[in-house]
Amino acid sequence: MIFCHQDSKAPRSTNNLVFLRVSLTWWLTHTGMKQKKYSNPFTATVNGIRDLFRKKERVGELKPDDRLDGKKALITGASSGLGLATAKELARRGAEVIMAVRSGIPEKGEEVKEASGSETVKMLHVDLSDFDSIKNLVEKIRTDIGKIDILICNAAVVSKKARRTKAGLEEMFTVNYLAKFYLVNLLLKEDLFNKSSGSLPRIIFVSSESHRNPEKFEWDDFGVFKDYGMGKSVERYGYYKLLMTTFARELSRRLNPGRHPEFSVFALCPGPVNSNIAREAPAIFQPLLKLVFKIFFRSPETASEPVVYLACSKDVEGKGSDYLFLMSRKEVDDKADDPENGKRLWEVTEHFLLKYEKYMNQRVNPLVHTEK
Ligand SMILES: NC(=O)c1ccc[n+]([C@@H]2O[C@H](COP(=O)([O-])OP(=O)(O)OC[C@H]3O[C@@H](n4cnc5c(N)ncnc54)[C@H](OP(=O)(O)O)[C@@H]3O)[C@@H](O)[C@H]2O)c1
Repeated sequence: MIFCHQDSKAPRSTNNLVFLRVSLTWWLTHTGMKQKKYSNPFTATVNGIRDLFRKKERVGELKPDDRLDGKKALITGASSGLGLATAKELARRGAEVIMAVRSGIPEKGEEVKEASGSETVKMLHVDLSDFDSIKNLVEKIRTDIGKIDILICNAAVVSKKARRTKAGLEEMFTVNYLAKFYLVNLLLKEDLFNKSSGSLPRIIFVSSESHRNPEKFEWDDFGVFKDYGMGKSVERYGYYKLLMTTFARELSRRLNPGRHPEFSVFALCPGPVNSNIAREAPAIFQPLLKLVFKIFFRSPETASEPVVYLACSKDVEGKGSDYLFLMSRKEVDDKADDPENGKRLWEVTEHFLLKYEKYMNQRVNPLVHTEK
């Protein structure tokens, strides 16, 4: 039992919190919900907590000698939550950390330096909703950083409603999926992964168990701007996590065609994290959400364990792919694992981005015209 060791000398407020956690945990584990697990903010929160308390076998342990001295790790969304905590731990373990962020320059970098005692922390600006910005990031990596050993695609957003990017695309689709496809492929095209360090380059995607929620792919109107409000945003989030996880599996197949893997392509769900992910939830629910997050969700430091494990551990050295939920190994959803879906998603995305390039070159926007 996780909450058994209650300290009798603890202050009453602490005991009340423990009681609240035990009661709610009991209620959560004894209410059988038939709804889709992560289809709206309520079921997503409740099921995130339930998942946390299911018994699972640990994949392994992070060891003190799982170090990254001499390795370069690029992490997106390192200004907040899980990304910031991961950046600190990777820096502590000796990596040169490159924080690719939209905000928090320079103060979040200073925070990482202070927490880790490392001076090899760099910050580069990127707005993942803007393809020019991603191109600039890759150019900066080429000129100022050099080849990287580890890429952690961590940044994501849960938008309260559908918003358009500069290119007229839906923001959550762009940031949570398309930008990752674009960034990874640009880094590969520019040959910016270090393949001669003696260990495989690692590409890690921070996914979510909500990738299991969607029933099917929306092939017929892929990338078409769809209007949605708060009630549908968690559902859309799960769909983009499905796209990202399918991409991760396909990427591993494409990068590792032979018997011996050349890249490690990992994905994971960190479980519920007490981060800023719900920042766009209605103001009226913010105090309650903050309380629930604080009581039930794990701190970014604790939740970053599987990210750090996949980035550093010798246990996974030489593996072509893996998926962790918390610290347990799991299969990704069948839809994400299906090579047919992976191939189709890759081709559809490539085609979509070619239209975008055409837009950039000709200044007409074919993407907006695809709206129904
Ligand atoms: N929190 C959870 O319960 C949970 C559960 C499962 C999976 N995850 C996943 O964990 C990852 C980290 O999320 P978090 O929980 O740590 O949330 P968070 O605190 O909100 O952090 C999200 C990060 O993404 C960055 N970001 C958002 N839009 C961006 C853009 N357009 N360009 C560049 N960066 C952008 C944010 O930058 P700014 O600070 O500038 O906004 C921030 O650094 C995400 O992939 C999320 O889906 C979270």
